[in-house]
Amino acid sequence: MDRLPLALVGCGPMGRRHLRGLGALHRAGLDVIDLVAVCDLDPRHAERAADEAAALTGRRPRVVPSMDDLLVDDAVRAIDIATDPAVHHRIAVPALGAGRHVLCEKPLSVTIRGCRAILDAHAAAPAGTVLATEEHFRRGPANRVAKAVVASGMLGAIHLIRTTWAGGDDRILLTPWRHLREKGPIALDNGVHMADVQQYLAGVRWDSAWGRGFIAEPVRRKGPVDFSADMYAEAMAAAPDEVVATGEDSIVALFRMEDGASAFLSWIPSGPGHLYLERSIHGRDGSIVLPPDRSGGDLLVRLAGRTLGIADLLRELPAGTIDEPTERIFGDPVHPDRPFAEIDAAHLAVTLHDFARAVLDGRPPEVDGAEGMDAVAAILAAFVSEPLGRAVTREEILTGTVSDGLADVDRALGLA
Ligand SMILES: NC(=O)c1ccc[n+]([C@@H]2O[C@H](COP(=O)([O-])OP(=O)(O)OC[C@H]3O[C@@H](n4cnc5c(N)ncnc54)[C@H](O)[C@@H]3O)[C@@H](O)[C@H]2O)c1
Repeated sequence: MDRLPLALVGCGPMGRRHLRGLGALHRAGLDVIDLVAVCDLDPRHAERAADEAAALTGRRPRVVPSMDDLLVDDAVRAIDIATDPAVHHRIAVPALGAGRHVLCEKPLSVTIRGCRAILDAHAAAPAGTVLATEEHFRRGPANRVAKAVVASGMLGAIHLIRTTWAGGDDRILLTPWRHLREKGPIALDNGVHMADVQQYLAGVRWDSAWGRGFIAEPVRRKGPVDFSADMYAEAMAAAPDEVVATGEDSIVALFRMEDGASAFLSWIPSGPGHLYLERSIHGRDGSIVLPPDRSGGDLLVRLAGRTLGIADLLRELPAGTIDEPTERIFGDPVHPDRPFAEIDAAHLAVTLHDFARAVLDGRPPEVDGAEGMDAVAAILAAFVSEPLGRAVTREEILTGTVSDGLADVDRALGLA
């Protein structure tokens, strides 16, 4: 097998962005995936995705009405899940049970039990079955180079990794479900990206979490979408005028990492005025200011007496800091003038390429199921630390010694 026969399940905005990722792979001459089928509960979404795939990759996949049809089709070797997160386990568990490789959008699930169900299904699947979590923020050149700088020791011992997002308004964030507790609220939905990138940059996992999740905007209102607008305008048009939020839209958290460093994370999409999108890493011998994820911006590394950007760093760091497929997909590692859709598609192309190569080469994917669960656990641990009045360890939340507080959601999702 030189190309992975894959079916996309979930052809909403994110599924369509995956198709753009396949388009970017095709343009880079890295056709490692054969999209053989698309599937969505809404046949209009599936038909449109098939048309878009044809335009982007030159081949129209079959439209398959249900998952059951996919799983009896031996031509489909892998499933790419891009449905809303509350149903990820309902697709991933039978897919793994039928011996299919799975790439699942983040958050892997909306509860620890949901994640565990997927990991258990993977453990029971035939040896060599790949389970990957779709985490693409880390895969851009700036994060690749920043990680290599930290790993090289150039910054000395790391004191703090900092990610701040603060500022916004009371508009619905992309879709109504992102404000509902049982569906995967936006502080979890977006927080997992930030937790994943922090662990990736640190090179170690989080060890304990202290923080709080909260609802900054109790009522979210319909309004213009300013992110990937072409993809989300339709969902917004179908949204009610108001959504009463039942799930956290905000999080502030401080993590202790396994090596003793601290990682601070805030995501508060509320409050007019300046939008703070800041990332930095501080070590004993230097610091990095990172551009916002998927912005294509440059890094600024400050050492005693020296200031370095990505181009300088690539001359000093080992060859392969940006791997060959990533180089082919992105081209110039600094590209702030490119449209977001193009930068996003490039990040997704790297994820899809890694997943396909993991299957074809019989190796683990870069972000496996356990790492996907780790990011979910990081956010849920921060949420439950406030009512407990103390930090929560990774071990406690993953083993269930400390509950994620979502037993009712588990029951509603058939996980209890
Ligand atoms: N990595 C990122 O940057 C990023 C960005 C946005 C969304 N996401 C993730 O992508 C996923 C999808 O997000 P979205 O905004 O496209 O959601 P969405 O709700 O707008 O779209 C989901 C699609 O899945 C379909 N669907 C739902 N259940 C299904 C089932 N059982 N079988 C087949 N189809 C089904 C729906 O009909 C819909 O077309 C979520 O997990 C979200 O967190 C990731």
